[in-house]
Amino acid sequence: MDERSQLAARREAIARGAGFHGVLLVAAGQPIPIAGTDQSHEFHAHPDHRYLAGLDVPGAVLTLDPFEGWQLFAPVPGIEDRVWVGDGVPLEELAARAAIDRARPLAELDTWLERRRGEPMAIAGNHDILHRPERYGLAPWEALEPDVHREASEHISQQLAEMRRTKDADELERMRAAGAASLRGHVAAMRLARPGMTERQVEIEIEAEFFRAGALRTAYGSIVGSGPNGAILHIAPSNRDLRDGDIVMVDAGAEIDGYASDVSRTWPVSGRFEGAQRDLYQLVLSVQEAAIADARPGKEYRELHLEACERMARGLVDLGILRGDPASLVERDAHALFFPHGLGHMLGLATHDAGGCLAGRAPSDRFGLKWLRADLPLQSDYVVTIEPGFYVIDALLRDPLRREQYHDAVNWGRVDGLAGFGGIRIEDDVRITAGEAEVLTAEIPKQIDAVEALRREAIER
Ligand code: GLY
Ligand code: MN
Ligand code: MN
Repeated sequence: MDERSQLAARREAIARGAGFHGVLLVAAGQPIPIAGTDQSHEFHAHPDHRYLAGLDVPGAVLTLDPFEGWQLFAPVPGIEDRVWVGDGVPLEELAARAAIDRARPLAELDTWLERRRGEPMAIAGNHDILHRPERYGLAPWEALEPDVHREASEHISQQLAEMRRTKDADELERMRAAGAASLRGHVAAMRLARPGMTERQVEIEIEAEFFRAGALRTAYGSIVGSGPNGAILHIAPSNRDLRDGDIVMVDAGAEIDGYASDVSRTWPVSGRFEGAQRDLYQLVLSVQEAAIADARPGKEYRELHLEACERMARGLVDLGILRGDPASLVERDAHALFFPHGLGHMLGLATHDAGGCLAGRAPSDRFGLKWLRADLPLQSDYVVTIEPGFYVIDALLRDPLRREQYHDAVNWGRVDGLAGFGGIRIEDDVRITAGEAEVLTAEIPKQIDAVEALRREAIER
C-alpha cells in the first residue's frame, strides 16, 4: 500500500473504531513561543496528527464530521508571513500529501465549528486547541458551547496509540533510513574523537553526519558523557574534554521524516577497553544480545526486562560487585543500583513512542521497575529499543539509606574502587518478526574488536 492509501486507511480505521457520532478535531499544535523573545521552539506536529495526516504543518487541524468526512484546515500565509517566511505549501498540495479531498484555510474553522454548535465533539492530537483556541483563530470555547466528550476523546487517543504500535512497510523504511543516518554519526564519532576533544565537539560531529544523511533533526537531545559524566543517564554534552582512560557513553539518534532512531554506543578514549571497563562492557553487550535473541511475538517486554536484570545481576556477582543469588538480588532490586532504567521502550514517531503500556497496566513504583517504559506482549512489526546499561551513579551508590539496605548485597569496597567509572549503555532499535528480530541499527559496531578498530583509526591518525 502506498503512503497515501495508508493514511486514508488509518483514518478509516479511526472513523470505524471511534464508536462516536460527532465531530473529531486532531490538531497538529501551534509553535511554542520562547518567552522574552520573538522566536519559537522548533515545531513538532503532534505525532497522532502526523500519523493521520502525514504532515508537519504548524496550526493544521484534521477534522472528521459524520456527514462531510475528513477535512484538513491549514493556515494560509498572509502578506507578512510571505515576506518573512515564504509562501508555504499551497492547500491543494497539502491535501494531496495528506490524501484528503478537501483542504481549507484555517480561518474557516471558526465558522465551520459555529455551524456544529451543540454537536458532540472529541479532541485528539494536540489539546492546545482546547486551551488556546485563539491561536487557531477560534472564538473562546464558551462562545462555541462545544459538547466535548472526554471519554470518546480518550478512547480515540488510546486507539491511535494502539495502532501506532505496529509499523507498516513505509514506516519501517523510514526507521531503517533513520538507523542508517545514525550509523554514519556514531561511526564518525568513534573514528575521529581524540583525547582533548570536548563532549560538545563529539556531539557536533555526530549531528553533522546525521544531517548530511538526510535527517532534519535529531530524535532527541544528543547525550555524550565522558568519564564520570557517562553515569548521568541523559547528560547534555558539556565542555569536559575526553581523557585517556575514560570511556564515553554516546546516546544519539537521527530522525527521518518524523521517525526516530535511538542508539547508544560506548567506547574507550584511549582505543582500548581496560580492566573493569572491558569486563563490564562485555557483560552489558551479552545481556543486550541475549535480550535481542529472546525478543519475539508473544514475549512480555516486562519479562524481557526482568530476565536482562537477572543476567546483569549474575554477571555482577561473577565480577565480585554483587553478592548472592541473582534471582533474589533482582527481587530486591539490587541490580538497579547499577542498571536503574528500563530495558527500553517503543520507538516510532516519538522516541519514547505511544502505546508502551497495555491498557489497564500501570507503571510499578518498585525501584527496579519504575523506569520501565514498555509493559506489553510484543507483536510482529513492533519496534522497540533494547538498551541495558551499567553505571556508577554517586546519587545512588553514596546514598546512606541504600548502602544500609543493600549492605550484604553489594561488595561496597569494590564499588568504591569504581569511582569515576562513568557508564556503559548499548542500545539498538529492534523490529519484532515471527523469526529472528530485525535490528535496524545492526551495522553500528558494538563488538569490542570492531569498536577498538575504529578507535585506533582515530588515535593513529
Ligand atoms: N535516548 C533516550 C533513551 O534511550 O531512552
Ligand atoms: Mn532509548
Ligand atoms: Mn537512547
